[in-house]
Amino acid sequence: MGILLQNGTIVNAEGQQRADVLIEGEIVSQIAAAIDPAGHEVVDCTGKLLLPGGIDVHTHLDLAFGGTYSNDDFNTGHRAAGFGGTTTHIDFVIQPKGGSLADGLKIWREKAKPAQIDYAFHMAVTDLRDDVMAEIPSLVQEGITSLKLFMAYKNVFQVDDMTLFKAMRVAAEHGMIVMVHAENGDVEATLTPALLAAGQTDPVYHASSRPPEIEGEATNRAVVMSGLTGCSLYVVHMTCEFAVEALRRGRALRYPVMGESCVQYFHLTVADHLAQPDFHGAKFVCSPPIRSTHDQAVLWEAVRDGTLQVVSTDHCDFWFEGGVGPVQEWAAAHNGGNWHAFEAQNPTYRRPGKELGKGNFARIPNGLPAIEDRLMVMWHTGVNSGKLSPERFVALNCTNPAKIFGMYPKKGGITVGGDADILVWDAARKHTISASTHHMHVDYNLFEGMEVQGVPVQVYLRGTKIVDGDRWLGRNGSGQYVPRQPHAPVL
Ligand code: URP
Ligand code: ZN
Ligand code: ZN
Repeated sequence: MGILLQNGTIVNAEGQQRADVLIEGEIVSQIAAAIDPAGHEVVDCTGKLLLPGGIDVHTHLDLAFGGTYSNDDFNTGHRAAGFGGTTTHIDFVIQPKGGSLADGLKIWREKAKPAQIDYAFHMAVTDLRDDVMAEIPSLVQEGITSLKLFMAYKNVFQVDDMTLFKAMRVAAEHGMIVMVHAENGDVEATLTPALLAAGQTDPVYHASSRPPEIEGEATNRAVVMSGLTGCSLYVVHMTCEFAVEALRRGRALRYPVMGESCVQYFHLTVADHLAQPDFHGAKFVCSPPIRSTHDQAVLWEAVRDGTLQVVSTDHCDFWFEGGVGPVQEWAAAHNGGNWHAFEAQNPTYRRPGKELGKGNFARIPNGLPAIEDRLMVMWHTGVNSGKLSPERFVALNCTNPAKIFGMYPKKGGITVGGDADILVWDAARKHTISASTHHMHVDYNLFEGMEVQGVPVQVYLRGTKIVDGDRWLGRNGSGQYVPRQPHAPVL
């Protein structure tokens, strides 16, 4: 017996089709105009769209960063993602300083044990010693086909140009893709102390420490290296015209370069959000910073004309008002690897968050919550406004992520033989986004009060329903690791 999604309209990146979809086991087994319902559980999808499960290729769950850890982990973050229609994500393993890539992978495999949705890993290389260089090809056997290098966060994650160039050469040799966080970290590290010394300590000055020019410059540097090495390049969280123009030039030269932006960069601005008084601007501190309405218009154009291929979230959330409770005890528990249990037993406890940067914007943990909201917000402001067709929405949020990162056609489309990751999407239903109802483990929402139209009312992960309206049906351990293929296409 299968599950028959009857009378829906499938939206794939290539087009729409009114059809029935039969799920047998974990797979879509048949798509046809009218499938005999005998012997199957029938789900009436009349008036609904059927979209492929969302794929978020840029998340940081349970990341040690900025003097604390990001709030959502592979339990809470997965539940929130699922409620928002994301059924697969790719998280960044971080190579520990002094350690190997295998050491990092071991840590992330442990973090991922409670998985409720499917997941894969990128490898963030922070220390490219000769032994680490030699380790890179072995990642492909582990299903990790993307390396991430940070051109920013000096003295934390930043690598120099020689490291980036070498990594690209070895990646190209093995059919891997290199991802970069493109900001000139040396310029930032010079601007920041000068701003602080001048008394410019509020959250809004975080944007002054990371102007768009340094994003454009670093993007251009990475694009040039891609051209020289032939290595596929994917620039993460692009925010501004300088960066988009650098990518456009590379694409015009037929370099294998691609890029993403994240939902927040289409909607938040320095003036309306980062500049909010009484430290509220800290809620919006991320790197690169949110920008201007002009840059937003550039991003919309870039996702329309194909300069950018993907919309992700860079989900990395921190309490606005954290640091409540026995911080030392928590730190000890975390080091022992048992902090979930500690927090469960201490429900009023909150680990440190954005408040770490009161009086010093450079100490505000960088990162934002968005894993739950991406699809609903992009549908509402993209599709409902006419800026994106439903097919382009699916391409940006589901299909291109799967293709670029070696998961297609298993993931990323509603196709016979593919995983039955399917959203029953009600394009008429309205929902008001709020921290009081969201499922992310954080005390604010970037889009607080936004009324969106178009929500996932049922979510299937490999043929199992994990969301039914307000009900969560997923369970820990049901999310699977997705090994990825090298030599993925350049879109
Ligand atoms: O502010 C951000 N983006 N935090 C997460 C880490 C990163 O740079 O992607
Ligand atoms: Zn980044
Ligand atoms: Zn990130």
